[in-house]
Order: sequence, then C-alpha cells, then structure tokens
Amino acid sequence: MSLPPGFLDELRSRTSLTQVVGRKVMWDNRKSNQGKGDMWAPCPFHQEKTASFHVDDRKGFYYCFGCHAKGDAISFVRETENVDFMEAIEILAREAGMTLPARDPQAAQKADKRGELAEIMERAVKFFRLSLNQQAAGAAREYLVQRGLDQAAQERFELGYAPEGNALFAHLTGQGVDPQKIIDAGLAARPDDGRAPYDRFRGRIIFPIRDPRGRCISLGGRAMDPNARAKYLNGPETELFDKGRSLYWHGPAREAAGKGQTLIVAEGYMDVIALVQAGFAATVAPLGTAVTEDQLRLLWRIADEPVIALDGDKAGLRAAHRVIDIALPLLEAGKSLRFALMPEGKDPDDLIRASGAGAMQTLLDQALPMVHLLWRRETEGQVFDSPERRAALDRSLRERIKTIADPSIRSHYGQAIKEMRWQLFNPRRPGGSGPKGRKWQPPGTPQASTKSSVLAGAGDHVQEHIREAVILATLVVTPELIEEVETQLERMECRDPDHAAIRTVLLGLPPGEDAQQAVAAHLGGEALENLMHSPHVAICPAVRHPGDAEQARLTLSEVFGKLIALRGLDAEVAEAAEEMTGLANEALTWRLREAAEACNRALRSQQEDRAAYDQGDNGMMIDRDERSAFDALLSKITYSKPGR
Ligand code: UTP
Ligand code: MN
Repeated sequence: MSLPPGFLDELRSRTSLTQVVGRKVMWDNRKSNQGKGDMWAPCPFHQEKTASFHVDDRKGFYYCFGCHAKGDAISFVRETENVDFMEAIEILAREAGMTLPARDPQAAQKADKRGELAEIMERAVKFFRLSLNQQAAGAAREYLVQRGLDQAAQERFELGYAPEGNALFAHLTGQGVDPQKIIDAGLAARPDDGRAPYDRFRGRIIFPIRDPRGRCISLGGRAMDPNARAKYLNGPETELFDKGRSLYWHGPAREAAGKGQTLIVAEGYMDVIALVQAGFAATVAPLGTAVTEDQLRLLWRIADEPVIALDGDKAGLRAAHRVIDIALPLLEAGKSLRFALMPEGKDPDDLIRASGAGAMQTLLDQALPMVHLLWRRETEGQVFDSPERRAALDRSLRERIKTIADPSIRSHYGQAIKEMRWQLFNPRRPGGSGPKGRKWQPPGTPQASTKSSVLAGAGDHVQEHIREAVILATLVVTPELIEEVETQLERMECRDPDHAAIRTVLLGLPPGEDAQQAVAAHLGGEALENLMHSPHVAICPAVRHPGDAEQARLTLSEVFGKLIALRGLDAEVAEAAEEMTGLANEALTWRLREAAEACNRALRSQQEDRAAYDQGDNGMMIDRDERSAFDALLSKITYSKPGR
C-alpha cells in the first residue's frame, strides 16, 4: 500500500516518542528532563539496570548507549510489538487519530487470510487439547506422565493429542470450516489421487507453536510408537508459518529473558519443556531444522549472548559448527554466542532428569565462547608437527576469521586465536609432552596474557593504556588519518572497554564526519572528556593542534611503533620465563635479545624523528614547554622497558 505524500511527516509530528516509548519503559526521573524532551530509561532492547536509553522527543529519535539500538517511533513499535512497517504505521496512526487510506486490497486480503488461518489453528489446538483428556488418549497421557509431564505441565504447554483417523478434519468441517482453509493451515493434506483430505497429525502428542504475539502458527507432533515413520512431524510451511523464522516458545522466552534469565537455545520441543520446567524459562528451539540466520537475528534481538545447548555427541558438535559458520559474518559488537555441551549421549531433557537443574546450571556456567569452539574445530584430533601443517592451520583459521564482517570483532578474534595458537605451539608444562601429543583442552582464561602481565608488572598496562589514549585522542582531533592507520588501530589491544568503544566509533566514522561529535553521540560526553583531558593526552602536541596531519602522523607512527615493540618484548619475556622453568637455552637468550633490540630500534627512530622536528623541518610551531613536557612523558614510558 502506498501512503499519501506527507502522511509519514504528519504522523511523526503528531506522535510523541516519549509517549510511545513510555508504555514500555520506566523513565529515570532524575536523569530525564521532561521539559526539554530529554528522556532516559533502562533500555527495553537489552538487559540493564542503568538508564542508557535516550529519547530525544523533539527530534523524535531514540538511541541506546549500551546496545546501540536506535530509531524513531515507527521502528520502536516494530521492534517492541514485533510487527511490520505497515502494521506499526497503523498502530501509530490510530493513536494519533489519523485515518489510514484504504488498504491495498491484495494486502488486506492477505492479512485477512492469515487471521482466518490463525483462527482455524486455534480451533485445532482446542480440539487436540480436549482430545488429550478423552478416553482414547489414555496411552498418550501415560506417555506424558512417564516423561515427567503432569497435568499442570500439559496445560502450561497446551499439549494435545491427535487421535487416529481424520478426527480433526471431521471436527472442523462439522463446524463449517472451509476444507481448503484446513489444508492451507497445514492441518490436513489432499492426496494426489483426489481422495478426501486426511489429517496430517494422527496418533501423536501435539505441541502448539506460537509466534511471539501468541498466535498459533503451526503444530509439532511426536509419535508415541517408537517404530513410527517420523518421530517428530512439524506442520508444513504455510502463510502463517515460516519455519526458518520461527522459534518454539519464542514469546514466553523473550519475556523471561527480558527479566534477566539466560536465553538458551535447545534442539527440540521436549528439551525446551524440560528446561522451562526446571526453571530455565528463557528457552527456545528451532523447529526441526538447524538454526538459521534469521533465527540468530531473532535471538540477538532478545539477548546479547544466547547459549546454544547441544547434545554432547558428534551430531551436536556438527550442529555447533554450522551455527558458528552462520554466526561469524553476522557478529556485531556485543552480540555473540556461547555453547553449552551436554555430556555424551545426553540432551538437556535427559540431563535434567538424570542429574537435576543444578547440573544443567553448571554446564551453562561453563559454556564456551564461540572462538574456543572455532579453535577446537580446526585443531581437534590433528597433529601439527611440521611447518606445512601449521601453515595449513593458520590458513584455515584465517579463512574463518575473514568471514567476520565487523572489523573490531575480527581483530579480537584474531588476537584470541593468536593466543591459543601460541599456547598450542609452545607447550610449557615442564616435562610435558611436546606439541605432537598435545590434545585440545578447553582453554580457560588465556594464560599467555595473564602470565605476561604478572611478569611484566601492572606498570606496562598503564603504559599501554596511555599510549592507546594518545593514539585515540590524536585520531579524534585529526580523523583524516584514521584510514592510514586502520590496520594498526584494529590490532590495538584496548583492554579498557572505553578505549575499545572509542576505537569502534573511529573505525566506523564516515569520511568527513566530526569524530568528537561522533564519540560524544555514541558514548556520551563523559567518555570524550575522560579521554581528552587525561594529563598525558592533554599535553600531547598532536592533540593540542587538531587537524595538523603532519604532527598527528608523527605521533601516531611513534606511539604505534612503541606499542608494537613493547608488545613483542612482553610476549617473549613471558614465554622465556615459562621455558626457564623447563630448560633454558641459547635460543631463549637470543630471542630475548632480539625483542629488546626491536624495542630499541623503535625508540631510536623516535628520537631521530624528534630531532627532525626540533629543527623545525616540518614547519610546526611547538612551544618549548609543551615539547619538553611531552618528551619527559615519552621518555618515561619509553625507557623503563629495556632497563628491566
Ligand atoms: P531429537 O531426535 O533430538 O529428539 O530431535 P528429542 O528432542 O530428544 O525428543 P525426544 O526426547 O526423543 O522426544 C530434536 C528435534 O528435531 C526435530 C524435532 O523438532 C525435535 O524436537 N525432529 C526430530 C524432527 O523434526 N523430526 C524427527 O523425526 C526427529
Ligand atoms: Mn530427548
């Protein structure tokens, strides 16, 4: 349907975003300023206690500083009511007292048809539920009880029983429902030979599948007969049901996740039911297929880090690997997955029945981050005893990481993989087996970095932090240089989440845009203040002369150089210490010397650079005090290292 010109503008100007959003959030009255249309609340799109969700009522836009959700009244209604664009417009127009132009007859017809099908589904659910309590369903009730589902559970999940024969079709047509609609709803099928339609679900336990708004869109049916042709039968794709975009228990799980429960993705109906009954209320399952891209997007709308619970067998691992392949290109800052692997041969339902909810909780707590599973997949069962094999590993890992679209996440994956690779090729258990016999073990906290930081002392982190701050601040005032140093910027460690966030803003900055404004808009003025006014940053000449590309370039090359040199030495020192607990050898001393040399080289070039600009080669005006203050700082953070 096309809207008349100006309709949306009119709708926007008549709509108060504060009012629309206000129905879904609790405003933070201390932080908000109603008079100015400046409103704050805990974000309705992610779990949080603080108020990071901002509504600018005058502009009609919202933005969450936590999860970066943003948009206007229309997108807010779409997201929170889970409706499409036109439905959102309808809702808002109704509230604003505007009449929508007559609907395009085709779309109207389609919506009516869906409504009709949903109504037929509802009748079917009712019929199957009643059937479960009839005499013919004795075996079905017994089956459910034997699987631990008492009457209350049966009601909670609206379980039903599809009798043998064509009971549903007879029942619905008896109520005057058009036979074709029963078929369109996926409840019956017409044989090719033209005989009468027959019930799709016969002699099965029925699980209604509802969309997040609660409309019944399909059914699942489990055979009780172990010899049945298919253990589970799901409804076919219909105008109501798009398998790859639907999740079992979506609505209740979303609600529970909104209240802080961990979002769990299980494999099937019975797992969801067992988990929900055991208190894991935010559980969903795909519907007889592997998790799809669309389903991942749905999951990430509910929670930042859903946990995929998989059977602990080969098939379960294979499923995990498929999920990883789909997920990598979609990753965005803050969105990820974890994987909880069940014990061999058990699914969550089995586990909970055998060992209780506590055992499940333990596995959830130990869920592996995606990067670890990726690593495990590429290395498990393999031996890396030749340069060729190692190179092959590097290549396959690189290929995987390359599929990550988000540059910042890509670089973090690269870093994590580097650490695990380092651990694999540098086994350091004294007297332990060499790389050959080394089997994969779930890595805990990355040991290399913890060890090295203990060894190098906290001071190094402070230095790294200062250097990162200088780099970020330089780029904030001279953003034209971001492109030139993009790769180095991506590789920067950024332990400080604020630094990482600023880096992400800088990497995503459209050309010509004001970086200071962008940082303030995305992260708040405070983040910018903290960065620009830290003492080391404030005296840096490149920061004091915004837009001076030459000065900025000089600073960047100098500081990046030192960061890299320091990092190189760090890793070597850590590794060396590890080896000293085993055998110290010449190679070790040589490596240490090399690393120290590299560090010195970086420092020397920095001194040469400095000599150059002292002579005024690049025509910069730097006042003496400023220079010497900065020099004193640089020498402090520079020379402490090799002397150690
Ligand atoms: P499983 O075979 O793992 O069954 O299928 P389950 O969930 O443990 O079920 P119970 O405990 O034996 O009752 C997992 C999911 O795969 C789909 C269903 O959605 C099921 O919930 N499936 C399985 C089918 O669609 N068809 C089948 O024949 C089997
Ligand atoms: Mn099972």
